[in-house]
Amino acid sequence: MSAARNARGSIRSTGATGLTAVPAAVEILVEGETVTGRAGQTIAGVLLGSGRVAWRGAQHGERGVFCGIGVCHDCLVTVNDVEGVRACQREAVDGDRVEREVRE
Ligand code: FES
Repeated sequence: MSAARNARGSIRSTGATGLTAVPAAVEILVEGETVTGRAGQTIAGVLLGSGRVAWRGAQHGERGVFCGIGVCHDCLVTVNDVEGVRACQREAVDGDRVEREVRE
């Protein structure tokens, strides 16, 4: 059996085939639409993976990920009725309900 390190430094078995195991799927509900991501992804990661680049309305246009490290607040969404969640910091959990926010 062989092993490989992922981006976080974790070691994963690649097995006899050399293929790396794929993390489990997670499904979140985005504005009523089911979107599939992978365990360990942030909500922003799932949104970007689904082709969305912006999901928050602001005074000067649509926002999505800017800093990606929890500093700028451009990525805010409502998750399970909790407002002001940073999509770039919150891990996506199966069944999460994500709604866009509009802030001036
Ligand atoms: S992208 Fe800046 S806080 Fe999330």
